Amino acid sequence: MATVNVNLPHHTYDVIIEPGALQRLGQIVRALAPQKRAALLGDGEVMNIYGGAAVESLKAAGYDVTTGAIPTGEENKNLDTVRKLYDVMLNDRLERRSPVIALGGGVNGDTVGFVAATYLRGVPFVQCPTTLLAMVDASVGGKVGVNVPQGKNLIGAFYQPVVVVIDPMVLQTLPPRELRCGLAECIKHGVIRDESLCTWIADNVAKIQALDMKTMTDLVARNVAIKAAVVQADEKESGERAHLNFGHTFAHAIEATAGYGTYHHGEAVSIGMVAAAQMAADLGMCDASVHTRIVELCNAVGLPTSGELPDTDTLMDAMRLDKKVADAKIRFVLPDAMGHVVIRNDIDDAAVRAAWETVRA
Ligand code: NAD
Ligand code: GLY
Repeated sequence: MATVNVNLPHHTYDVIIEPGALQRLGQIVRALAPQKRAALLGDGEVMNIYGGAAVESLKAAGYDVTTGAIPTGEENKNLDTVRKLYDVMLNDRLERRSPVIALGGGVNGDTVGFVAATYLRGVPFVQCPTTLLAMVDASVGGKVGVNVPQGKNLIGAFYQPVVVVIDPMVLQTLPPRELRCGLAECIKHGVIRDESLCTWIADNVAKIQALDMKTMTDLVARNVAIKAAVVQADEKESGERAHLNFGHTFAHAIEATAGYGTYHHGEAVSIGMVAAAQMAADLGMCDASVHTRIVELCNAVGLPTSGELPDTDTLMDAMRLDKKVADAKIRFVLPDAMGHVVIRNDIDDAAVRAAWETVRA
């Protein structure tokens, strides 16, 4: 078991990482929100597997439980779903202090978090993430929101949870492809902040793939600690929180152009990190070994490091449309050493184009 505290100027909360924590969900939530009713809003597929245990735990802690299921998939992270969840909560008269619990991956957590932030101007929000990506990244730090036809995550808020409850046992049912996607974000954390995390992941690949619970608890705790430190330093992303976007400028362009579902987010991030590291090495910003280590690590956990991609003009156009563009300059997060990155918005198109060619299969 591990607990990581996120300590912000106006709010502090714990991230509890504990095999079997789902059985204690009700007890943990009741200590923070001792109300009559709670809402459990989960990913449809996750509710089928774990909804029963979560409801049982909440009822055993004395809650009347309202449940709602969000159909699985990024295409359901939208305002229609938000509207339906408001109805579920209004119909059951959830009150201002009633806790709302998100049970699922990042799609579910982002959507339910937005509902929690806006229902009655904000109700206590509990994150119970069930993908590795959501455990190490999406559930911590308070970014909540939904997609609109104009783009991903364009409507949202910063709304911190009152607690994050992580049960690594639920990873036993997570498809291996989704586990690998979470590992891409773990590698990202190592590259931006902690070289030793990269070494540790490389040394523990077999235990991670076997879902050894001690190893998974340590993996999640190390990553949550990095994410918490970044968020504590810059909650609203006016500076260093942008470091978490390492690899993402390339990745978003891949996701936007390759066709829905071709690459999952973590796979695009993996290719994006490789492209960014190659570009940094070519620009003389870092040693070529940084690129080599990222490639070796991504390969070791089964992530792609190149792919069949659209033509470079299409990818460049997509990069310019990304919401991370400021004053028409594309913003890159680039390593200058393993474990350290800097933000650059002065990179010539020629260097970016050359980087794209290095990750084209
Ligand atoms: P996801 O929520 O779509 O879940 C992936 C799949 O795994 C789904 O099919 C889901 O049904 C299934 N699943 C989840 N948990 C399971 C389990 N334990 N057992 C079996 N199946 C399970 O995907 P994701 O990768 O978790 O999240 C991606 C989303 O997270 C994106 O929308 C992205 O924008 C968002 N995100 C947000 C932040 C943030 O800071 N808020 C950070 C990173 C990503
Ligand atoms: N995943 C990016 C962030 O939380 O800022």
